[in-house]
Amino acid sequence: MNKVTIAEDIYWVGVIDWNIRDFHGYITRRGSTYNAYLILDQKTALVDTVKHTFSKELLTNIQDITSMEQIDYIIVNHVEMDHSSSLPIVAEKAKNATIITSEKGKEAIICHYGDHFKIQTVKTGDELKLGDRTLTFVEAPLLHWPDSMFTYVLPDKILMPNDAFGQHLASSQRFDDEVDEHILMEEAKTYYANILMPLAPLITRKIQEVVQMGVAPTVIAPSHGIIWRSNPSRIVNAYLQWSEGKSNKKIAIVYDTMWGSTDKMAHAIADGAISQGVEVKMLKLRATDLTDIVTEILDAKAVIVGSPTLNNQMFPTLGQFLTYVTGLKPKGKVWSFFGSYGWGGGAVRGMTEMARKAGFEVHEPGIEVKYVPTTEDLQKCFELGKQIASEIS
Ligand code: FEO
Repeated sequence: MNKVTIAEDIYWVGVIDWNIRDFHGYITRRGSTYNAYLILDQKTALVDTVKHTFSKELLTNIQDITSMEQIDYIIVNHVEMDHSSSLPIVAEKAKNATIITSEKGKEAIICHYGDHFKIQTVKTGDELKLGDRTLTFVEAPLLHWPDSMFTYVLPDKILMPNDAFGQHLASSQRFDDEVDEHILMEEAKTYYANILMPLAPLITRKIQEVVQMGVAPTVIAPSHGIIWRSNPSRIVNAYLQWSEGKSNKKIAIVYDTMWGSTDKMAHAIADGAISQGVEVKMLKLRATDLTDIVTEILDAKAVIVGSPTLNNQMFPTLGQFLTYVTGLKPKGKVWSFFGSYGWGGGAVRGMTEMARKAGFEVHEPGIEVKYVPTTEDLQKCFELGKQIASEIS
């Protein structure tokens, strides 16, 4: 392998997963990477491992730089299997290594791989001296698992925050100044929306806590995707904006349709909103992945959702969408619902109930039309679009 140097004696030894397209339901059409880092000093530390299907590649990457016996510490920042499922084989080969992880990390390692490892637990502020370098640990519980923690390398000022600040982006380049910045930020936003959105309040607090601890990284080396070295504050500021719920004058219209009635309504609502000068994104469920839909919702001020009625309920794709989006807890948005039915309604009522239960701010009444929208119905839809657009302007 070509050695990838982050700083003197600090190497990327991760792997590139060019072909992954579905990461537990998240559509990863640009692939991903599992980043691991090797730090050479008087003591040698490996920070994180990789998905088990790439364990041989990880071992080769490490052994191109040092021998497995030289590894003194394996830092496990997070036990989700994309980062830890090579741990058993790495620990077996790195016979002299102690695993360093949080208390919850220890519990998760034992649950996943058994109770036969040499493990030392750390908490926020604990330090591990490697020689000239010192690692400082910061627990980040529920960002996004209970075990999650960050490792900060001094004096190099390299933050290794595992999933935080990552992107699912396979690339032969490793650094932010080497890739297309629009693609990089698009993937960072998609990652935030689909993985971290429900944790927004914790993210803001964690960033403040880390800053107060004096952590001021010149490099942020996450566990997925590209390493931020040219301007790490760019992704930190983006996280602050996203977690504060900063949104645009934009309406996301998410809908599905059976025979075109709900589609006609969706377009009339869009026309009304556009007439007020707001941006509109039309997101038909069977034409757009949920991964992309929630990314559009992240910075929209309003979400208008439409469904036909099927068997007295919302259309199944809407059930899937609302289950996903209510779990992600998007904040500070206006929600409204519309739809069509034949002989008995139910979709609008069902969707509204789900949204209310999730604590969403619902604009009522919604609109429900029988069979096919009339000219008057479409005018009402146009007015709804207009009204919501003016509410968010
Ligand atoms: Fe990339 Fe939470 O694992």
